[in-house]
Amino acid sequence: MAGGIGSRFWPKSRTAYPKQFLDILNTGKTLIQWTYERFANFIPTENIFVVTSNEYTSIVKAQLPQLNEANILAEPSRKNTAPCIAYMAFKLQKENPNAALIVAPSDHMILDSDTFQQIALKALKFVSDHKALLTLGIKPTYPNTGYGYIQHEVQEFKPGIYKVKTFTEKPNLELAKTFLSSGDFLWNAGIFVWKVSSILEAFEKYQPEMYELFDAEKQQFNTPEENNALNRIYPLCTNISIDFAIMEKADNVYVLPAAFGWSDLGTWNSAYENLDKDYLGNAVASDNIIVIDATKCMISAEQDKLVVVQGIDDCIIVDTDDVLLICKKDKEQAIKEYVAEIKRNK
Ligand code: GDD
Ligand code: MG
Repeated sequence: MAGGIGSRFWPKSRTAYPKQFLDILNTGKTLIQWTYERFANFIPTENIFVVTSNEYTSIVKAQLPQLNEANILAEPSRKNTAPCIAYMAFKLQKENPNAALIVAPSDHMILDSDTFQQIALKALKFVSDHKALLTLGIKPTYPNTGYGYIQHEVQEFKPGIYKVKTFTEKPNLELAKTFLSSGDFLWNAGIFVWKVSSILEAFEKYQPEMYELFDAEKQQFNTPEENNALNRIYPLCTNISIDFAIMEKADNVYVLPAAFGWSDLGTWNSAYENLDKDYLGNAVASDNIIVIDATKCMISAEQDKLVVVQGIDDCIIVDTDDVLLICKKDKEQAIKEYVAEIKRNK
């Protein structure tokens, strides 16, 4: 899934060039390139699909030249992850409704790709044998309000796999704190595994209108008429994430708790956590930035400008060609809201 705009990573992540296409941690590869490589290690290339918004297809082609163009699927508009997943599932249904599918974001960092591979294979095997919607769970470390929280049964359903009791997408801070202190919850990694037929059944049950929209046009999929069909479907589709649309509602959700050095590079704090820091705890994304008596700041600037930061604590400072952002580190979830507000007022 590579069609999001990464608004909490603003102003570095922009609508025209969002974060999945950036090398946020200066690793030499962009996030989508790392993601592709992680899967290409064990999935045949012809079985890897990128679903993105039509405005990003040329970026995907440029960044993943190994990928067959037919495997880059363009949505006519951004409607969040539920329609993206329905589209892919309906396309695959025509070829193989029993196919087991991993649905992954394109903007995550995963340090241990060998462990990831083992877990992905175990998950694929499990969903092939069960009518299950499986998600990978991560042990939470702080009350992040940008994630889904999963509570599972105490008894294992199968070795290392648990039935989910509750799934709560993006709780408020108070609830996130309660979840964390109960010690009973996992973060949803946002990596889902299921059979095509299982997720389509869930759409039919929990999102019947969306299901009907796609179902009515399914004969057009994998034909030259596919784009016309999408142009009819998408304007009528609800804008909703898979988490709210299905995961919070379904009663056949399972979780595989996993640890593979996972991080959603969704926000400036997550970049801060993953970058090296100086002895005062500042994470500086490039060496044209000079820091004097500042502590625990996340600072990013274009390479061609000297940036000097003095006497500032706990802030995010991001300078791009046309935008300068300075905000408190603990208010990063609000970035999404004021970016939307700024866009409205422009
Ligand atoms: N094709 C397509 N179309 N992709 C999309 C769209 C869309 O309209 N909207 C978002 N995506 C892509 C994003 O680019 C990203 O790779 C992925 O789908 C997930 O979307 P995010 O917007 O980053 O989701 P999130 O981080 O707020 O929440 C999800 O991930 C968390 C973990 O990282 C949820 O699944 C949470 O429950 C989870 O904890
Ligand atoms: Mg995300």
